Amino acid sequence: MTDTMHSTAEALVAPGKGILAADESTGTIKKRFDSIGVESTEDTRRAYRQMLFTTPDLGEHISGVILYDETIRQSTDDGVPFVKVLEAAGSIPGIKVDTGAKPLALFPGETVTEGLDGLRDRLAEYRELGARFAKWRATIIIGAGTPTNFAIDANAHGRARYAALCQEADIVPIVEPEILMDGDHDIDACEEATGRTLDALYRQMVAHRLDLPGTLLKVNMIVPGKGSAVQDDDATIAEATIRCLSEHVPASVPGVVFLSGGMSDEQATTRLDAMNRMLATGDGAPWALSFSYGRALQAPALTAWGGDLRNVAAGQRALGHRATMNGHARDGAYDPAMESAA
Ligand code: 13P
Repeated sequence: MTDTMHSTAEALVAPGKGILAADESTGTIKKRFDSIGVESTEDTRRAYRQMLFTTPDLGEHISGVILYDETIRQSTDDGVPFVKVLEAAGSIPGIKVDTGAKPLALFPGETVTEGLDGLRDRLAEYRELGARFAKWRATIIIGAGTPTNFAIDANAHGRARYAALCQEADIVPIVEPEILMDGDHDIDACEEATGRTLDALYRQMVAHRLDLPGTLLKVNMIVPGKGSAVQDDDATIAEATIRCLSEHVPASVPGVVFLSGGMSDEQATTRLDAMNRMLATGDGAPWALSFSYGRALQAPALTAWGGDLRNVAAGQRALGHRATMNGHARDGAYDPAMESAA
C-alpha cells in the first residue's frame, strides 16, 4: 500500500514532468470564464476541461492533473470519463478535496481551510472514481501582525489531518500552504512567513504519523508582494526559495511542486528553471523541484479557446507549449529561445 503511494508521489515529479492544476471551484472558473466573456455552465466547463485533457501528448510533460468534484464525474462528448482520458494519456488523476479558505473566527484578516467533515467517505468515493492523489490548500496572508502563529498552527493541523485520511485511503496527499503575493511586503517577509509555515506543517505531519515519502509539498516560491517597491530578479528568487526549502522541508519528502500564484506564465517557467539549474550545478537537493501550475499553464489556452469549438486545437497548442516549456524548466533545460520556436 505504502509502496504505491511512494511510486505515485515519485511519478508526479518525474524528470521532464509536472502537474496541471485544473481544480478551480465553480466560483473560480466562473471568474476565469468572465474574463473571456464565456458563460459558466456545467456544459461549458465540461467543454473547456475536455479541450485541456484531450491535448495531444498531454502525458509527455503532465504527470498528473488535479480535478474538481464536478470534473472527476464528467466525460467527453463520446462518453469517455475524463479519468480514463487522463489515464490513457499517461497522466495520473488527482482531486481537490478542501472546501475552501474561510475567515478564521476572532483572527481578522486570516483564514482557515475547511473540508474535514465527511472527508473519509469522500476520499473513499474519489479513490473509487480513480483519484490517486489529492490536494488541500491553505492561504497564509502577510499583513500588519499577520500571519499569526495561531493561524499557521490551525492550518497546519487541518492539513495534517487531511493528509492522514488520504494515506489511510491509499491516496497521496499534496499539502499546500500558499503564502499569498497580495501586499507590499518584501521578499524577506515572504521567506520568514513561509519558513514559519513549513516548520509548523512538518511538526504536525510528523505528529500525525504521516509517511513523508508518500506525500508531496505544494508551495509558493519566495517572492516579494505584488505591491512591493522592490521586485527581485529570478536568481534572487531562486536562491531564496532553495534556501527556505533546504532549511524547512524534511529530506524524506520526495518532491516540491510550485503554484504559480499570480506570477506571469514566463516567470513561472524561468524561475523554476533557475532553481533546477542551481541544483544541478550546486550541491543538489533531496527533493525534486517541479510545477503544479493552474493559471501559468491554462491562461494562454483559455484565451486561445475563447469558448469557441473552432479554437480547440489552438487552445491545445497553447497548453501543450506551456507544458513543454515547464517540462524543460523542471530539468533546468529551458531556453527562452524555445518560446518562439513553437
Ligand atoms: P495557480 O498556479 O493558478 O496559483 O494555481 C495552482 C493551485 O492549484 C493553487 O491551489
